[in-house]
Amino acid sequence: MVAQLSTPGSHPEPAFLAACRRQPVPHTPIWIMRQAGRYLPEYRELRSKVDFVQLTRTPDLAAEVTMQPLRRFELDAAILFSDIMTPLQGMGVSLDFEPGPVVKDPVRSDAQIDALPELVPQRDVPFVMESIRLVRANVPRGAPLIGFAGAPFTLFCYLVCGRPSKEFGAARSFLYAHPGSSERLLDKLADAMAAYLRAQAEAGAQALMIFESWAGLLGPREFQRFALRAVKRTVAGLKDVGVPLIYYANNGGSVLDQVATLDVDVAGIDWRTPLSVARRTLGPDKAVQGNLDPAALFSAPEDLRRHVDIVLEEAGPAPGHVFNLGHGIWQDTDPDAVARLVDYVHEASIRAGVGKGARA
Ligand code: CP3
Repeated sequence: MVAQLSTPGSHPEPAFLAACRRQPVPHTPIWIMRQAGRYLPEYRELRSKVDFVQLTRTPDLAAEVTMQPLRRFELDAAILFSDIMTPLQGMGVSLDFEPGPVVKDPVRSDAQIDALPELVPQRDVPFVMESIRLVRANVPRGAPLIGFAGAPFTLFCYLVCGRPSKEFGAARSFLYAHPGSSERLLDKLADAMAAYLRAQAEAGAQALMIFESWAGLLGPREFQRFALRAVKRTVAGLKDVGVPLIYYANNGGSVLDQVATLDVDVAGIDWRTPLSVARRTLGPDKAVQGNLDPAALFSAPEDLRRHVDIVLEEAGPAPGHVFNLGHGIWQDTDPDAVARLVDYVHEASIRAGVGKGARA
């Protein structure tokens, strides 16, 4: 957790960072999961010339793609252009993006688990830290930069299953067939991600987000035993890192009471759980991030405004709301709808005076 001190005489803190710390803000800050990516013509243009992995490994290109959405829209934060699988590639895991990650040799044995090396970020993925430094030096409007990693269980799903899947059956059955080996693999991933996230903060990332994209695969008992235990280990490894931590559990409505026990500043909420319910379950010590349905960007403009009003209303007047979608933006989204969304969130939250109220 982060100290809530502000330095006298310093510039006002950016709204995104203030909201993460549940401090009053002039407007509700907004950024969008997957804001750098294929719905943007300028991304597709660059991607037509450079392969995805090459983009992630070339600091000036990764920094450029990170900043593309901030040039177009008045977004309140940037998120580093990279992938949750990038550090695993740095640990020697061979994989392709098709476009989802496909692992050449899925991890299914103790020998493979033992062979996974420790991650030394400066040695194994130095381009990530270099990209962060470039974004910090050049980002429009001085917008804060979010670093990120996959949560251990979500990485486990890709490593064990080998490819994206609706059910991740091979990964889930591995948990039941080999619980001890699963815990060992999750611990290794937890430690690697703690080192990775810390290195990003040291390079200049101003907030760190952990993506538990596959939280919804597990019942509450398995979530607690495997996913929560492992991510707690990552979070424990980040004590004193000094920047806000965000944990996003996609389809995580049934485990929000468990998320409440995680020592992070912000909980990312998907669109299936109203923010008012999330706030009640999480209590007053966490900010919330979310949670417009990505499909809502396909509404008529006046309907989109109504959907935004509902999210702002559900978040309530207390500080500690970062507006976002409930999951990543779809690649066939019209960029003009994003522009309307960003501008309207600012306008409506200023008009309503949300985020300035006393703490809940
Ligand atoms: O703008 C941003 O959010 C930053 C970049 C970012 C990417 N991936 C770029 C990317 C981030 C934060 C991620 C995280 C990520 N990657 C997650 C967690 C977030 C989530 O959506 O739940 C997951 C599960 C992955 C795994 C992954 N990588 C998938 C499923 C895919 C393909 C499908 C897709 O959504 O695009 C990728 C490849 C990938 N990662 C692309 C991008 C822009 C597309 C690659 C291309 O251009 O061909």
